[in-house]
Amino acid sequence: MLGEVARLIQKARRGVVLTGAGISAESGVPTFRGKDGLWKQYRAEELATLEAFRADSKLVWEWYNWRRELIRKVHPNPGHYALVEFKSWFEDYTLITQNVDGLHRRAGLDDILELHGNIQLNICVECRLPDKAELDIDPDNIAQCKHCGGKLRPGVVWFGEMLPQAVLQKAFRKAEEADIFFSIGTSALVHPAASLPVLARQRGAKLVEINPDETPLTGLADYYFAARAGELLPRLVEVVSKEHKA
Ligand code: APR
Repeated sequence: MLGEVARLIQKARRGVVLTGAGISAESGVPTFRGKDGLWKQYRAEELATLEAFRADSKLVWEWYNWRRELIRKVHPNPGHYALVEFKSWFEDYTLITQNVDGLHRRAGLDDILELHGNIQLNICVECRLPDKAELDIDPDNIAQCKHCGGKLRPGVVWFGEMLPQAVLQKAFRKAEEADIFFSIGTSALVHPAASLPVLARQRGAKLVEINPDETPLTGLADYYFAARAGELLPRLVEVVSKEHKA
């Protein structure tokens, strides 16, 4: 199967990758819906919302500070580094991520479509302008926006909120044009991200899924690897490098 995918990669001009929390699992960042995915007794859906922030901004900042602290301590894993290698395989390579942990950037990719924002950034809850970029926020004394005095919140997209439209439109365009589309480490449950691989497949792309667990996408995939990204992707890089040399 890896050889077949390697040959598809050789023929493809436009490659697109969509990643989810699973690509960072082997770095030690808990996924949202996996067995280790819950934080204490809360679920992301209950904390990553504007309503939760309005109701208890202290609790929401405690959760985000816990996640920021954890992310500062972790590092990209072989899966992230393998996805940097993909850059040399395609004339046009796009990495789209649902993750807010910034690990793709730390692995060496800079042109990334971050659909859900970046956890390390602060924006104003009222005017949504960025402010005090990487300031650590004290949950008991939440810093205020210099533009309008609103409370600062994490620069991520919360449930029920619109995704950054320019980023999303580019992601859809790239999915439509893809020759090959990889869905890696995502449960393929949260839209609009989850519709990107489906759209790509409908427009004729070959769809490759890498996830230890099956997802709603698995039945649609041309190739499904029930594997961890950090283990499978370096093997794929090895096979492709051999094919390139051949
Ligand atoms: N390699 C590949 N996949 C893995 C690995 C791994 N090592 N470990 C776990 N997974 C898979 C899980 O099987 C699961 O299907 O990663 C997926 C993670 O799914 P979720 O936790 O639902 O994360 P994600 O798909 O990114 O969630 C989408 O939902 O909570 C919101 O905004 C949040 O961006 C997030 C969005």
